[in-house]
Amino acid sequence: MHTLREALAAAAEQKIALGHFNISDSTQLHAIVDVAQELELPVVLGVSEGERTFLGVPEVAALVASERAQGKAVYLNADHTHSVEGCKEAIDAGFDSVIIDCTKLTEDERIAQTREVVAYANASGRDVMIEGELGYIGTSSKLLDSIPEDVLAAALPSADDAQRFVEETGVTALAPAVGNVHGMLKNQPNPRLHIDLIAEIRAALPHTPLVLHGGSGIEDEDFTGAIKAGMNLVHINTEIRVAYRKGIEAGLAADADEIAPYRYLDHGRDQMKEVVRKRLALFAGKAA
Ligand code: 13P
Repeated sequence: MHTLREALAAAAEQKIALGHFNISDSTQLHAIVDVAQELELPVVLGVSEGERTFLGVPEVAALVASERAQGKAVYLNADHTHSVEGCKEAIDAGFDSVIIDCTKLTEDERIAQTREVVAYANASGRDVMIEGELGYIGTSSKLLDSIPEDVLAAALPSADDAQRFVEETGVTALAPAVGNVHGMLKNQPNPRLHIDLIAEIRAALPHTPLVLHGGSGIEDEDFTGAIKAGMNLVHINTEIRVAYRKGIEAGLAADADEIAPYRYLDHGRDQMKEVVRKRLALFAGKAA
């Protein structure tokens, strides 16, 4: 099987993006993996620190290893990891990539911590990608009434900033802020992306995989533009959280006496599959 780096390079060559979906449990994992298999696409599963604590680091690594043993191209990412120790734990557990999230630290701290994680990954003997973030897009995969003030106030990085950051830290993937926001507005699409900025960053970093976080709520047209301009991987979380919850609520409402989790969770799984199918197909330029 290809490494994640190879899978992203292949996607870049085909001018498509891969999907990254967060999971909190095995129901979500199966929903995402089933759809990726159906569409014959590799897929990345992400676990934030909270999701990881709930699922268990060795447990989620074992679940993904079991999918891979069945020949499925499924990759595992340690999403938004705020400590060097957390990154090292994920690398030791066999994750394919780690995001060191130092967006709240000073520039010097950010560079020092990112370098430490890159060095640890390089010494692991495996091909582990280390992703850095530049700019600030908020923190939570939740429903939003409005765009958070601190996101509005944060400056977007320039292509020069992006190039310097990659050179100084040695990260092997970059998630730049390009108008994207974590979370999804309740009553309207999320803000438009700066497609020109993505193209400038791509031109400055022709070989670095670029990752679009905060995918929920972005309009299809912006996704297509962002992928054409150079994004290689798109993160979606809030949309599948919403679908999962709505599906479970419908499952419970359909039979007030139902107590078998696999029966009411199944409704949540079906609704998540719809979202994943629509997004993966769009990112890969396929019919859903
Ligand atoms: P959304 O919840 O906005 O889709 O963002 C997900 C994400 O970027 C996780 O890293």
